[in-house]
Amino acid sequence: MTLWSGRFDTAPDPAAFDFGISFGFDRALFEDDVTGSLAWAEALGAAAVLSAEDTQAIMDVLRAIREEGRRDPAFVSGPDEDVHSFVERKLVERIGDAGRRLHTGRSRNEQVSLDLRLYLRRRIPLLQAALARLVAACADQAEQAGAALMPSYTHLRRAQPILVAHFFLSHASALRRDHAKLQAAADDADALTLGSGAIAGTSYPVDTALLARRLGFSRVVRNSIDASSDRDFVASFLFAASLAMVHLSRMAEDLIIFTGEEHGFFELSDASATGSSMMPQKKNPDPLELVRGKCGRAVGRLTGWLVTMKGLPSGYNKDLQEDKEAVFDAEHTLAVSSAAAHAVVSRLSLNVQRTGHAASGLMLATDVADYLVSRGVPFRRAHEVVGAMVRRLLAEGRDFSDLTMAQWRDASEMFGDDAPRAATALASVQARRTPQSTNPDAVRAALRECRDWLISENPKPQPPSPNAQ
Ligand code: ARG
Repeated sequence: MTLWSGRFDTAPDPAAFDFGISFGFDRALFEDDVTGSLAWAEALGAAAVLSAEDTQAIMDVLRAIREEGRRDPAFVSGPDEDVHSFVERKLVERIGDAGRRLHTGRSRNEQVSLDLRLYLRRRIPLLQAALARLVAACADQAEQAGAALMPSYTHLRRAQPILVAHFFLSHASALRRDHAKLQAAADDADALTLGSGAIAGTSYPVDTALLARRLGFSRVVRNSIDASSDRDFVASFLFAASLAMVHLSRMAEDLIIFTGEEHGFFELSDASATGSSMMPQKKNPDPLELVRGKCGRAVGRLTGWLVTMKGLPSGYNKDLQEDKEAVFDAEHTLAVSSAAAHAVVSRLSLNVQRTGHAASGLMLATDVADYLVSRGVPFRRAHEVVGAMVRRLLAEGRDFSDLTMAQWRDASEMFGDDAPRAATALASVQARRTPQSTNPDAVRAALRECRDWLISENPKPQPPSPNAQ
């Protein structure tokens, strides 16, 4: 028995009906569906559409159903078309006609959008907390690295020396933007759809502003037609999740490279690596590779959803049912990926010899050129002089630290006795001046700022619980 069987002569063809069933996945919205229904029953009661007794009976049973669902997840199952039908069936089974009155003036179109908005509002803070845990792991690594140096890369070629801490805080910065983007998605979802009816609005005098407050929404949707098919908040969420996955994937790629034998900057813990079935020496970064690989899944969900939305005429269309699996899958992907990334990052150990050694040598060429600039040589000219030095040193298999004072002077008379001191990785990072640079004082301040952010953002103040009813 469906919610709409009255109009039809024949039972639905199983192939067509089963194709449309969403209960298998939208049962994840059970809690939210009950939350919305409790508020709707109350609003109908306040508008005198429902009697006080019916309102009470409906609310009591909804709470009882919710309890049962919480106690035993298997309770939320059955032959129902979707979670909304399930809740209504349970209600009618227990209180008959009073239960049949709950759906007065309401449509599943606004209800399903409401449920997904409530769901995201509950779940986004959990994803934000997972990202914050990873930011904290990056901050811990930055702190433990202290004054350790490593090379930075452009074009994956050695560029300039940086502090290892600066590298970890660079990934923390991207993750903090993801945290903010997820918040923006939660803000997009923050609008009450109830009162929109199927498309034209409801004809019962429900107080939508009060309903919004009751459910913890800061506003009511502006237009009932738009509300019935607006899933921009889903697109925002999928975008935020995809971009977070892109950042996790890039961090994974860095770590896959830096933990490999060729670099050996960091060692993967045995606890977050895997072996080979054939090659006994292998220690593979599988968790990092999977994080990188799963990024494609999240981006696919975003792309898929945008394509689903693009051809829809105004008003609700069944295509919209596809939103939920996209949301659940992207959410799960991000949750497991950030947990895996955390497991890896929090257990990485630094090989200071390897990073320190890699941060020296010819990559100090820019600093040598800057030295000449400080002596009044125009930068373009300094670049040429140092370029020629690099060419010679490369041919001889030497670097700046091998040069005698006479050889420095030979390259340019402007090199004084202090020139060799400018050509060290430590001098290089100390020479940086700006707050966003790898200057050790700047990095220390950045780490402090990151810790302050972690304290101020997490744990997030819980939104007023709509389940308090
Ligand atoms: N399962 C549907 C969905 O997820 C619920 C809304 C059904 N509305 C309708 N008019 N058939 O979108």
